[in-house]
Amino acid sequence: MDFVMIYRIRITVIVCFLTLLAPHTVSAQQDTAVFVRKSGWFETMLEVKRQERTLAHPWVVRKNHPDPKEVALWKFLRESFPARRAALEMSWEERDSIWNFHNQGFSFDLLGRHYVQGYVVSCHERGVQPVLRKKTFRNLKDVLVARKRYLDSREKEYVILTPAAGTAPRINGPAVYGVRPGHPVLYKVPVTGEAPVQLSVTGLPAGCTFDEASGVIRGVVNTPGDHVMVFHAVSRKGEDSLRFTLKVGDNIALTPPMGWCSWNCFGSDVTAKDIRQAVDAMVGSGLINYGWSYINIDDCWMNRPGPDDPVFKINDQIAEKYEAKEDLRRRLSRIRFDEQELVGRVRDEQGRILSNKDFPDMKALTGYIHGFGLKAGIYTSPGHVTCQNYIGAYGHEEQDARQFATWGFDFLKYDWCGYSLIAPDQSLKSLQQPYIVMHDALSGIDRDILFSICQYGRGDVWKWGASVGGNMWRTTSDVRDTWSSISEIGFGMAGKEKYAGPGHWNDPDQLVVGYVGWSKNLRPTYLSPNEQYLQVSLWSLLSAPLIISADLTRLDKFTLNLLTNREVIRVNQDVLGRQAHRVIEAGTVQVWAKPLADGSVAVGIFNLGEMPVDYQLDLKALGLEDPCTVRDLWRQKDVANRANTYSCSLNRHAVKLLKLTPLQRL
Ligand code: GLA
Repeated sequence: MDFVMIYRIRITVIVCFLTLLAPHTVSAQQDTAVFVRKSGWFETMLEVKRQERTLAHPWVVRKNHPDPKEVALWKFLRESFPARRAALEMSWEERDSIWNFHNQGFSFDLLGRHYVQGYVVSCHERGVQPVLRKKTFRNLKDVLVARKRYLDSREKEYVILTPAAGTAPRINGPAVYGVRPGHPVLYKVPVTGEAPVQLSVTGLPAGCTFDEASGVIRGVVNTPGDHVMVFHAVSRKGEDSLRFTLKVGDNIALTPPMGWCSWNCFGSDVTAKDIRQAVDAMVGSGLINYGWSYINIDDCWMNRPGPDDPVFKINDQIAEKYEAKEDLRRRLSRIRFDEQELVGRVRDEQGRILSNKDFPDMKALTGYIHGFGLKAGIYTSPGHVTCQNYIGAYGHEEQDARQFATWGFDFLKYDWCGYSLIAPDQSLKSLQQPYIVMHDALSGIDRDILFSICQYGRGDVWKWGASVGGNMWRTTSDVRDTWSSISEIGFGMAGKEKYAGPGHWNDPDQLVVGYVGWSKNLRPTYLSPNEQYLQVSLWSLLSAPLIISADLTRLDKFTLNLLTNREVIRVNQDVLGRQAHRVIEAGTVQVWAKPLADGSVAVGIFNLGEMPVDYQLDLKALGLEDPCTVRDLWRQKDVANRANTYSCSLNRHAVKLLKLTPLQRL
């Protein structure tokens, strides 16, 4: 053997050896190449992080994939380990930046310290004193001890506050409902209690029928005015009744709409199948029995204009601006799974808008939704394209409004973003114009379509949204499932209370609870349980539309409990329709109050701070001179009688939601 030969053999042996050791099979050519999948998500992550420096693309390589490395890694792990417990752990650890070593690189010590930091924050969420032991972490064993403490603590945050609904019948939902004369009435009476519950209605107006089995009122009422009915529910376990007024007149959305929307869960990937499953879950989970009633399809139910489409000939800059939006979509990973197949024909010969192949029969879909007494929502944009560059309504507003009515929709979200490609400027006139056009179009049709304005609060929309026909208007850009997002949007509503009322609501965007993800890659919300209680409480006080945007097929016990507290929902659905205002700001504590129709006051005491605090509320500060009964709404329990003050401890980002009833009102 000559020297070269020996040299070659040695090289081959070394290469083979290294190949065996290297646990990845990555090739830039492959569309998707996956790094070794260890026994669990933690083990896989550990392996990835320990080798991060030596591997170019250690986990998923996707051609032209725009995701930053870290996002792609979490996405890959979520796909590989779908079990609920793993998903929860990942959402905690991702949010808490446990695996983010910045430029320092992996070390057991840093990992261990991250777990300790996360554990300390979690203790503040629970209001317990952290017990700090180890200062340095030498090996995996040390880290695992810290991790266990962290996970145990995070898990303990999921405290279910609301007692089970009980077996006696209870009628939920608002006491008023608005419909326009001659337009279809569809109202499901929401009732809880052990089946069978017999439901009846007295005072049903002429033109309406009531189906006892489904609890749905349908029909048409031509006579304007108040039609007072009484709903009555009886079972072996008890009975309940509710005086209910059907207000036939110009105004609809007399209480804030409650329902579900596809955007924060499925994002661009939504299909008719997801919508049907959401309906089934809304019914099957019992949410429907608490008044949740809209099922709203967001963007991407339509097709996309091809390069030759006339929309690109509107003006010279369109194509350029369109490309910039495409770029943004790519960066945000908003590309739909079968998007290429949706490019082309967007309208038929008569100019009627077409739904895409994943929504093969819109009429059948709304029929399915209506079958349960639920209502159907749809989305479009005043632009020639929508936010995700699907076909919009520009130039076809009347025709599209008619089409939505023919399909059977009851709600329209009209989203600015695509219109920015053609809006002449940002003057008030330009901001209002497209909404006036669509409102006129909606006024000409023979069914009620709730008009939801979405333009992110531009031009102080709350000051004029109602005057252009809006039943609700978004006050800010999109909500995300982070503390900074919900706290900025929610507490930023201070001062806007005078613009909300029956028929026209400020909309701080959707509830980011449950499984979300703006794609098919869903995960549990990053909000902590306290933050979730806080969002639902604040949104209820604000008389905000309550729109869940979670995957309803994956509702867990905690999330379902959060969304089915009838006393909390009643605050939101109160007939007075007042939006809470901020009464007190003291350090990290804020107190918000909402007057209710029965003379009581709903109050939220919020801790925006990072540390637990004790707080004492003087009820006089709320204008309540008489002593009050204090009811804790989440626990559905009276906690004080004849009180003039109320004291509480508030953990990190926590809330107390109370109903204060002055004695003279009892
Ligand atoms: C905008 C809206 C969102 C959603 C998307 C859909 O971002 O604010 O709520 O409707 O568009 O593309």
